[in-house]
Amino acid sequence: MSTAATTALPDALGRAAREFIVSEHGLLIGDQRPQAADGRTFATLDPATGSEIAKVPQAGAQDVDRAVETARTALEQSPWATLAPSERGRLIAALADTVEAHQEELAEIESLDNGKPVKLAQYVNVRGTVAHLRYFAGWPTKIEGSVLPVTAPNMLCYTRREPVGVCAQIVPWNFPLLMATWKVAPALAAGCTIVLKPAEQTPLSALRLGELALEVGFPPGVLGVLTGDGETGAALVDHPGVDKISFTGSTVVGREIGAKAGCALKRVTLELGGKSPNIILPDADIDAAVKGSYQAIYFNSGQACNAGSRLFVPAERYDEVISALAERAAATRLGPGLDQQTQLGPLISAEQQERVMGYIEAGRSEGAEIVCGGAPTLEDSGGYYVQPTLFSSTSDDLSIAREEIFGPVLVASPYSTLEEVAARANAGEYGLAAGVWTRDVGSAHRLAAMLRAGSIYINHWGGSDPSAPFGGFKASGVGREHGHDGLDAYLETKTVWTSLA
Ligand code: NAI
Ligand code: MG
Repeated sequence: MSTAATTALPDALGRAAREFIVSEHGLLIGDQRPQAADGRTFATLDPATGSEIAKVPQAGAQDVDRAVETARTALEQSPWATLAPSERGRLIAALADTVEAHQEELAEIESLDNGKPVKLAQYVNVRGTVAHLRYFAGWPTKIEGSVLPVTAPNMLCYTRREPVGVCAQIVPWNFPLLMATWKVAPALAAGCTIVLKPAEQTPLSALRLGELALEVGFPPGVLGVLTGDGETGAALVDHPGVDKISFTGSTVVGREIGAKAGCALKRVTLELGGKSPNIILPDADIDAAVKGSYQAIYFNSGQACNAGSRLFVPAERYDEVISALAERAAATRLGPGLDQQTQLGPLISAEQQERVMGYIEAGRSEGAEIVCGGAPTLEDSGGYYVQPTLFSSTSDDLSIAREEIFGPVLVASPYSTLEEVAARANAGEYGLAAGVWTRDVGSAHRLAAMLRAGSIYINHWGGSDPSAPFGGFKASGVGREHGHDGLDAYLETKTVWTSLA
């Protein structure tokens, strides 16, 4: 193993994670680990210090060509093409087991690359990955077509469910390993082959996942990994050898990918941004609502597509809720992800910190009141920290009330009636998630029906399970991940007609 010279890794990093991080990183194409054809590389940084932790290849058009061809060959000619469904399931289950066995290592890699608390990385990113792989390991043996009751006499008509083909999977940096697995697991279950592109800010855990997949016996080419940025992602999207694109990330890039997929008539799944309303009703358990609303926005430093970033509070309970939330936010302990005491890590990058601070400035100048936070912090560390911030505003027209900030910034507003708050919650362009806090079953489910969002959380925030569809209404995306719907997104239906006459 050769060692990169410039890395300064934190002492808290365990041996396995350290060994992986300092090893020479290549792309993963078939069973090869090549550098980029044109030799380009880029650095991934520790968001808690801004220092470089590793260099990885920057895949270019030639590498994309090679990876897609390799995935095509694996789809059509390798043992994968004819593997029994039970064997496909066994391999996915074996990958779950090996991810579980490496959970501490993977959590540390993820925490260092992304900045999040290592416990959060382990419980959400890594154990979530295991759960999704285990769930989808059960699917290959249950993918069934049907025999159809057609009108024509002497005709046998049945359907086959077939893998959609070579899938380009482009994922973001907020939950790197988990976002990759949300796409990889159903694609493997369906029998597809994959070229996975992690985000340029967090390339490491996807490379490790690809290695582990080879180790457990997936045929080379079934799961390729290309590290690179938006240019690499765009080359993958444009490649004629790709049958399906699955993307999680910003709405602006999602629109572009959707348009390209539309023109090329490629299958596409898009998980995009959100500005999710969280509604407290007057009869709610206020303590539980405050705790839950704190988690809804500040979890993962606000870098979650389903963050509850808009809070609606009944006018008569407004002051009580706002002061309890501000107290909690102000007591939050910020620090590096690998520090066990850390509750909130840094943001992913200097760019993201700047973007979030830009929104905070806009909120101030547009007239919203800052109740707490509102500044960068721990500046001596070199890390990209922003204080948990709470704005109060009566207007829904401010940029901070309408646009996705993707940082620890909550905008709270008072309201009067259920109909009013439902209309205001539905007014934005997004529709990923919405929350309701109440003890009244009738109001809870009336609102659940009225709100235009892909997930509704009642008396908690952020429920997630491999069996439960997740995705957006409106500008929050196209299609669903998880569960039956998530599997269907990787299957084509073929109808076979046989004359028996
Ligand atoms: P992004 O959408 O640019 O990046 C996400 C992924 O797409 C990365 O792997 C990136 O390399 C790739 N990509 C970028 N441009 C591409 C292109 N033209 N074609 C194909 N792939 C491309 O998001 P970015 O710049 O990292 O974050 C910007 C904002 O996006 C955030 O502030 C946040 O609001 C939102 N975002 C939302 C996420 C979500 O889960 N909904 C996740 C990440 C970001
Ligand atoms: Mg990084």
